[in-house]
Amino acid sequence: MLKGHNMASTTFYRILQFLLLGTFILGCFVTLFLMYGKPFISWLSGPVKSTVSTDRVKNLFSTKSDKNVTTVLIWLWPFGKTYDPSLCSSLFNIDGCFITADRKHYIKSDGVVIHHRDISPDLSNLPPFKQPSFQKWIWMNFESPSHLSQLPGIENLFNLTLNYRQDADIEVPYGSIVAAEGEEDFVPPSKNKLICWIIHAYGQAFGKYTSDQDYFPTIASYDITEKLYNPLSVGTVPVVLGPSRKNYENFISRDSFIHVDDFSSPKELADYLLLLDKNEEMYLRYFEWRQHFKVKKAYFWAEHTCLACDYLRRHKEYKAFNSLDKWYWGG
Ligand SMILES: *[C@@H]1O[C@H](CO)[C@@H](O)[C@H](O)[C@H]1NC(C)=O
Ligand SMILES: *[C@@H]1O[C@H](CO)[C@@H](O)[C@H](O)[C@H]1NC(C)=O
Repeated sequence: MLKGHNMASTTFYRILQFLLLGTFILGCFVTLFLMYGKPFISWLSGPVKSTVSTDRVKNLFSTKSDKNVTTVLIWLWPFGKTYDPSLCSSLFNIDGCFITADRKHYIKSDGVVIHHRDISPDLSNLPPFKQPSFQKWIWMNFESPSHLSQLPGIENLFNLTLNYRQDADIEVPYGSIVAAEGEEDFVPPSKNKLICWIIHAYGQAFGKYTSDQDYFPTIASYDITEKLYNPLSVGTVPVVLGPSRKNYENFISRDSFIHVDDFSSPKELADYLLLLDKNEEMYLRYFEWRQHFKVKKAYFWAEHTCLACDYLRRHKEYKAFNSLDKWYWGG
């Protein structure tokens, strides 16, 4: 038994080695560059407005009297990096928002967005002032629970959650598949025939909470993150594992990816990848969905704070969230 298993895995690793040492290693570098270089480049050349938004001007001269303006305070810049928060109207068609990081607006802020990663290690980074009765605190986080430490004392502090989970109050997925109307035909990049492995690290979080029936189905979407949407958007075929094929198909086209579960052994998968490498027609089938759809990635973090504002404008009702630890970490 053991020996057979070892032999099978040795064969598998040989094949894998072959894969990696071939065209793949170069391809992966290209992919990595495209995946991580591109957002940076597009951020540099992206739409940067130098003009002061009218909302901002309005707000300088009026306070609560302007009932139609919703003020959202970014308490901490996510990961300490600033961004232009005044794009709600121009980029996302969300009007009536004043988004600011200037804490002098705290007292009139309808919402305060607090990024979990930047609060730690203790609560001393939280607003030290009383929360006005109309104000909502918004817990923002885009790390998976296995990559995020729990913070004692925040369980009952927040009113709303801003997260990639579908059951968050303000849901912002890492990406989504949207209609590609009136766009040029998608041509897979010339590095074609590349398959770069995307292995999800879902760590402890998975095994730890499998007993919690309600929790498990939602955690399954955790790993569908930028690790999936980035390769999809640059034109590679993701090979995925972890959440079931069905779960992935809720988010992306069934013929846009390869699921490890489709194969009975690592060798079968490796053989299939080798076959795909040689068969252009089969490979191109993974891009047929691009005739009608494209990948829309979230616009970090401007979109997130604009959507927070949009939510606050549409939901003025009382809301408290008193089970943050259970919801996100399972206990
Ligand atoms: C305030 O906003 C609402 C909808 O958001 C709109 O119907 C109304 O006309 C606005 N009022 C003023 C004074 O701008
Ligand atoms: C927000 O949540 C806190 C803590 O649960 C609560 O005291 C406060 O009344 C809530 N505010 C609103 C506007 O819902």
